[in-house]
Amino acid sequence: MPRFKSVKGMQDILPEEEALWSRVTGAAVSIARRFGFAKIDTPVLEATALFARGVGEDTDIVSKEMYSFLDRGRDGEQGESLTLRPEFTAGVMRAYIENGLASRPQPQKLYSLGPIFRRERPQKLRYRQFNQFNAEIIGSADPVADLEILLLAYMLHSELGFKNLNFQINSTGDPECKPRYIEALKAYLAPHAEKLAPTDRDRLQRNPLRVLDSKERETLPYLADAPHMLDYLNEGCRAHFSELLGYLDALGIPYTVNHRLVRGLDYYTKTVFELWGEGLGAQAALCGGGRYDGLIELLGGPPTPGVGFAAGIERIVHVIREQGVSVPALPQPRLFVAYQGDAAKQAAVALASDLRLRGIGARIAFDGRSLKAQFRDADRYGCAYVAVIGPDELAAGSVTLRDLTRSAQQTMTREAFGAWAIQTLSAQDATTVA
Ligand code: HAM
Repeated sequence: MPRFKSVKGMQDILPEEEALWSRVTGAAVSIARRFGFAKIDTPVLEATALFARGVGEDTDIVSKEMYSFLDRGRDGEQGESLTLRPEFTAGVMRAYIENGLASRPQPQKLYSLGPIFRRERPQKLRYRQFNQFNAEIIGSADPVADLEILLLAYMLHSELGFKNLNFQINSTGDPECKPRYIEALKAYLAPHAEKLAPTDRDRLQRNPLRVLDSKERETLPYLADAPHMLDYLNEGCRAHFSELLGYLDALGIPYTVNHRLVRGLDYYTKTVFELWGEGLGAQAALCGGGRYDGLIELLGGPPTPGVGFAAGIERIVHVIREQGVSVPALPQPRLFVAYQGDAAKQAAVALASDLRLRGIGARIAFDGRSLKAQFRDADRYGCAYVAVIGPDELAAGSVTLRDLTRSAQQTMTREAFGAWAIQTLSAQDATTVA
């Protein structure tokens, strides 16, 4: 038999990761709730056309990174092309339109958490399946909505202990001023086109803004003097941007205006940003987002402004782990139920079940192991107590309780044991066991 392996670029998240992961996702959800966000869960599969339209045909994501397949139609005919979501935003907008969320009080503040799929070249911290925490504020053009998205991203990372956080921020304008800037950028780059890296020559034709955030050695010298988008903004976009920066200044949130930041998804208008910080190496984004005022209309909904961001959970977990931050283990049962003999096994199963029904955690021995082995197991699992039912206890309707930390033991009636368990273990189960 061949040995099966996980698909390239996709990874298992093992039980020892659970505490760290729930610390990160727990922080994200609790901070989002402080801002008044509510959860929206959308399907992992969407129509391919949604992403082609929403994210943009010429983006790297849509042109080469999507996991798409043809569904089966009726009577064996070819069905629709479906895609594993390569981001949340387009799907959340589809859900907003489809479920009539526009008729609810605006703005709608929605967060999501779950797997994202991109067929990127796997490398460190770049996976083909990864998890995002995503947040969107839909239905407000107010720069305060942009601010709340930036603050949510900032608080998430600062509360998790990230250092030297700094926003990179830019405005990409709106459908009125953006085309003027693109023309200016094309005019500036055209005389140098032959000297640009081949990928950027291609981008100059298909998606000129993307040349701006090129990392290619040949292209970089020509970008230093490229025109700045901010000089081309119309009055509305300029006022929006300066109001947002004013809030950041007033709150002391560090940022750098980065004239080359455009981001790799086509739907952005006005604000775009990334959060940079220590931990991922030089100038790597911890998370990113921006405003997308034309997206809902582009997808067939009413004209509706929106702004959002997404953070990669794997990247956050990586940085926290590298920093050696210790995370308390999650609660585990403190009691192990051991038995001797088949008849006692039944009584032990009943005892453990009864405890769990009352909300108390308990482990039980499997596979008829010797009592000595069961005690070893209890110790291995970090249980502080073992309840033993052997032939004597079975006959007397009692339980022998061994306290492993104090090496003390005591035999008591089932009722007395039940009372002890409620008193001692309910409180302990609720606390975190290191
Ligand atoms: P994005 O910049 O493509 O934005 O992805 C957001 C975050 O997802 C990145 O900053 C990074 O932390 C993580 N990420 C991206 N690709 C990978 C990968 N291959 N492996 C691990 N982590 C990755 C978006 O997805 C937009 N939808 C964000 C947004 C929401 N804009 C408005 N609303």
